Amino acid sequence: MTQRILLVIGGGIAAYKCLDLIRRARERGMSVRVVMTKAATEFVTPLSVGALSNERVFTDLFDLDDEREIGHIRLSRSSDIVVVAPATADLLARMAGGHANDLATAVLMATDKPVLVAPAMNPRMWTHPATRRNVALLQADGIRFVGPNSGEMAERGEAGPGRMAEPLEILDAIGAVLSRGATSAASLAAVPQMHVGPLSGRHVLVTSGPTHEPIDPVRYIANRSSGKQGHAIAAAAARFGARVTLVSGPVAVADPDGCTVIHVETAAKMLEAVKAALPADIGVFAAAVADWRVANAGVEKIKKTATQRTPSLELVENPDILRTIATNRAQRPSLVIGFAAETEDVVEHAKKKRKSKGADWVVANDVSPETNVMGGERNTVHLVTAKGVETWPEMLKTDVAEALVMRAAEHLSRNEAAAE
Ligand SMILES: Cc1cc2nc3c(=O)[nH]c(=O)nc-3n(C[C@H](O)[C@H](O)[C@H](O)COP(=O)(O)O)c2cc1C
Repeated sequence: MTQRILLVIGGGIAAYKCLDLIRRARERGMSVRVVMTKAATEFVTPLSVGALSNERVFTDLFDLDDEREIGHIRLSRSSDIVVVAPATADLLARMAGGHANDLATAVLMATDKPVLVAPAMNPRMWTHPATRRNVALLQADGIRFVGPNSGEMAERGEAGPGRMAEPLEILDAIGAVLSRGATSAASLAAVPQMHVGPLSGRHVLVTSGPTHEPIDPVRYIANRSSGKQGHAIAAAAARFGARVTLVSGPVAVADPDGCTVIHVETAAKMLEAVKAALPADIGVFAAAVADWRVANAGVEKIKKTATQRTPSLELVENPDILRTIATNRAQRPSLVIGFAAETEDVVEHAKKKRKSKGADWVVANDVSPETNVMGGERNTVHLVTAKGVETWPEMLKTDVAEALVMRAAEHLSRNEAAAE
């Protein structure tokens, strides 16, 4: 049976990609009916859209002919899926707020069909707290998302998450939503979010938190890592559709949704768990692994006695998890990302670390006490790659995580496309 798409085109630069989306959908035997927002008509003409879809294009809620012939309620129901592409920041806000003040939003409010959204906007708009809130609300309502991807923006010098998913990715996502057999928005909301994100089908391995190296059965050497950044990365990867294994040291933050979490204490146990979790497509080594452990850790609690001298601890080097995995020829993840927590010469140390450990990227951050990065909610990072250094603005750790994961997804797809 012909699959019927109702495509809502929003007013963003990426609207031009919808022409290709319509063409490819029709090549696959789907029918495409289109609603354009007023702003969308500034970017592509209803004439081109109508010519490609071979259908009348709808733009106005108050067009009486439309109401008599079909009406917005029927329009919203006479399809198998409603796809919003590009979904602008404003359109997402109106959807999340339950507005129905134009044909696009009225149709989206009235539909009983699954809704798939392909956002497209400037990275700052995508990572803005208001957009984050709107996306979370829409996801909770059962709305599906495809993309956005990360990369160059139409604006010069702008890069990051916010590029609309490519037409073929959107078609794959449409196929995935329809193949679930969920026919209404309500029934779709009842099933868990599907893996239609840019990391769908990938395995992402993340380490997070500190390690605890025992001195004796009750004492240990630790560090101030909270695990917030690593856990946020694991959560973002899961939201983008990846299967995620998170190997976590002892932390106070909750296990992120949708991840397999393995709890460990020491660096040696963390390495063991990481090796067991391979193979992976992406390895993100965000844990603050102790460089040393106590060679002569006491089996019994070390006692303070009047006669004994103060005990001294002999330290031995811990295994280097990042280097071990990055130089593991048999099972090296396609993209290995290390973290460098430094208190001085942050970028220079990170550049050296990238080379000496064999990592592809190193995310460097200044963890001097005055930055409040360790344990705090925000982070300012430098992304060090073979191409150079990018300094990102100060962001919430959750936004750093999202931007990094998007970049990683984009990097993998680009490398694979280049290899084809
Ligand atoms: C040149 C230009 C490009 C724009 N590109 C985007 C974009 O990519 N994403 C976005 O969210 N808004 C973008 N905007 C802003 C939207 O067009 C504006 O918020 C509009 O009200 C969206 O209307 P709609 O959501 O009804 O389509 C752009 C505006 C201009 C003038």
